[in-house]
Amino acid sequence: MDLTYRPRRLRRSLALREMVREVSLSPADFIYPLFVHEGSDVEPISAMPGANRWTLEKLLGEVQRAWELGIRCVVLFPKIADNLKTEDGKECFNPDGLIPRAIRYLKSELPDMTVMTDVALDPYSSDGHDGIVSSEGVVLNDETIHQLCLQAVMQAQAGADLIGPSDMMDGRVGAIREALDDEGFEHVGIISYTAKYSSAYYGPFREALDSAPRNLSNKPIPKDKSTYQMDPANSREAITEAQLDEQEGADILMVKPGLAYLDIIYRLRQESELPIAAYNVSGEYAMVKAAAKKGWIDEKSVVLETLLSFKRAGADLILTYHACDAAEWLRQD
Ligand code: PBG
Repeated sequence: MDLTYRPRRLRRSLALREMVREVSLSPADFIYPLFVHEGSDVEPISAMPGANRWTLEKLLGEVQRAWELGIRCVVLFPKIADNLKTEDGKECFNPDGLIPRAIRYLKSELPDMTVMTDVALDPYSSDGHDGIVSSEGVVLNDETIHQLCLQAVMQAQAGADLIGPSDMMDGRVGAIREALDDEGFEHVGIISYTAKYSSAYYGPFREALDSAPRNLSNKPIPKDKSTYQMDPANSREAITEAQLDEQEGADILMVKPGLAYLDIIYRLRQESELPIAAYNVSGEYAMVKAAAKKGWIDEKSVVLETLLSFKRAGADLILTYHACDAAEWLRQD
């Protein structure tokens, strides 16, 4: 055939493929989510094989392992005992709570590791919502933000480097920025869950923290988070959220979940000059683990291909439970 262009010319050898490769993965791209609890044993999480609820002591070992593999940021999630959960979630700003103790411990032992936190009420809420639920069953915006600001400031006082509001209340990024600045934490960054969708992919995470919406009181509790998290049908709305978060002072924008929302990552990359993070969430992790266990897919290849797809779509950072495994595989290659 008389072909001018033969794209296969540049695919002939590994060396050529490596030369023209457009994106790559590095352990420094990863943010490693970790669960902590008060218990004295490390507890496996059944729907997330390989992930655990760590004790404070054992958490340090896992974070050190991540550091040695080249991972430079961890994000902490607490499993809070039922007797500490209240309708207003006030345990979220207790300076002696599980998360501030974990932050202080990690920062004293491994000060160079970036510690990110999650800001929302759900692990602390007896109703299992990210905000305060009114007696009419409405998730209250402004009242919730008051709690979130106390939570963020307390986390910064404990030594957090990056504050991650995941609650999806309107105006929370600006309010948290102001609260941090007022308390002298202008150097602490905000990684905003900008486009966070009301997704069924969070199921295993809610099992890990026992944080799903529940009806324990006699008020009506919304059974899902669709009055504050985004509708999976919408993409223009993600641009609006991104513009608001930028105006309000976010330092990094996040898209969550990641895999079913690669188009949103791509769109935000076009719209914003800020770093973009993708959250490869618990349900995405669980699907890969389940299929790999059955021998239906090759875990290493699927994980590395998936993580690469976030970079190709335009993400700079990837929150992933595969972080340590992927870092190890990248080292071997
Ligand atoms: C809580 C929060 C959730 C996740 C991160 N922060 C769950 C939710 O919004 O219900 C999900 C993470 C995952 O599924 O891996 N605000």
